[in-house]
Amino acid sequence: MIMKKIDISSHINGIQLSSCIMNASGALCTTDQELSNLFDSSSGAVVTKSCTKNPREGNVKPRYFEWNVGSINSMGLPNLGIDFYLNFLEKKKTKKPVFLSLSGLSIEENLFLMKKANFSQKVTAIELNLSCPNLREEVLGNDLYKISTFLESIFEFNKKPLGIKLPPYFKEECIINMSLLLNQYPIFFVTCINSLPNGIFIDTDNEKTVIQPKNGFGGVGGSIIKPFALANVRKFYTYLRKDISIIGCGGIYSGKDIFEYILCGASAVQIGTQLIKEGISIFDRLKKEFTLFLKKKNYSSINSFKGKLKNFQ
Ligand SMILES: Cc1cc2nc3c(=O)[nH]c(=O)nc-3n(C[C@H](O)[C@H](O)[C@H](O)COP(=O)(O)O)c2cc1C
Repeated sequence: MIMKKIDISSHINGIQLSSCIMNASGALCTTDQELSNLFDSSSGAVVTKSCTKNPREGNVKPRYFEWNVGSINSMGLPNLGIDFYLNFLEKKKTKKPVFLSLSGLSIEENLFLMKKANFSQKVTAIELNLSCPNLREEVLGNDLYKISTFLESIFEFNKKPLGIKLPPYFKEECIINMSLLLNQYPIFFVTCINSLPNGIFIDTDNEKTVIQPKNGFGGVGGSIIKPFALANVRKFYTYLRKDISIIGCGGIYSGKDIFEYILCGASAVQIGTQLIKEGISIFDRLKKEFTLFLKKKNYSSINSFKGKLKNFQ
């Protein structure tokens, strides 16, 4: 009997990925060691921790907490500064695509970071994080007018493939408006979604919150956010220009979850909370589970079912 080969490779608007599975920004991708582990793993790409112009300590600890179906964090963007990430990449010999995540604290800082990233040969694409829910500083993710002027300025000089990391939206109208805006620019991809903002988790034994910053309020990730993330992927797939790829992110735990994202229209997926919980070996497990799932479904590649979710009738 001839075994059909299952191909889980993909591409993000032409950027080839040997596997459609990668880490989410912020999950084990801040330090030299963490990034080296990701490069050595079976992930299809490496996404770096969102960086700023200068290194940042981030918020006071404890600032991350996880339970069986989720995580809550208010990290406050602890990172080693853009120069660290660019220098690290400069020294790295690798063929894996690198998505440099940028998260300036102002429009000016983001433009500075974008210009710097444009000079690096080692950066395959930029993932611009406009949606960090845990900062006191200005966040752009919900201000369409500011985003559009910002994108105008970016595309005056930008030559790198650019993607935008989006916050979750809960109204179709918001997704339509954001899509109409993004459709006007040569964006390569969007990543949906960042953590669900302003959640709270309670330790009932001690009648306390579990993280210290912002009185315990933080961004929520993990399995419990998956339905919202899938919905955002599906709606953006409906309204975005067809050449803008979607990277799905939120609550991925299994190969079946990856299948759901691709069925909704994602071209690739990112793993956050579950990577932090399980460690780097998760990429081997997910690859195996996803391949087996496709085999059972009799699909040989992700293109056979991408975006083909049917309505119940
Ligand atoms: C500890 C932690 C740090 C994060 N840091 C970033 C970050 O720096 N930049 C970013 O775009 N998203 C960041 N995120 C959000 C994740 O990339 C992801 O969008 C979110 O956690 C949902 O995915 P998940 O359910 O797989 O965790 C962070 C999430 C966690 C849990």
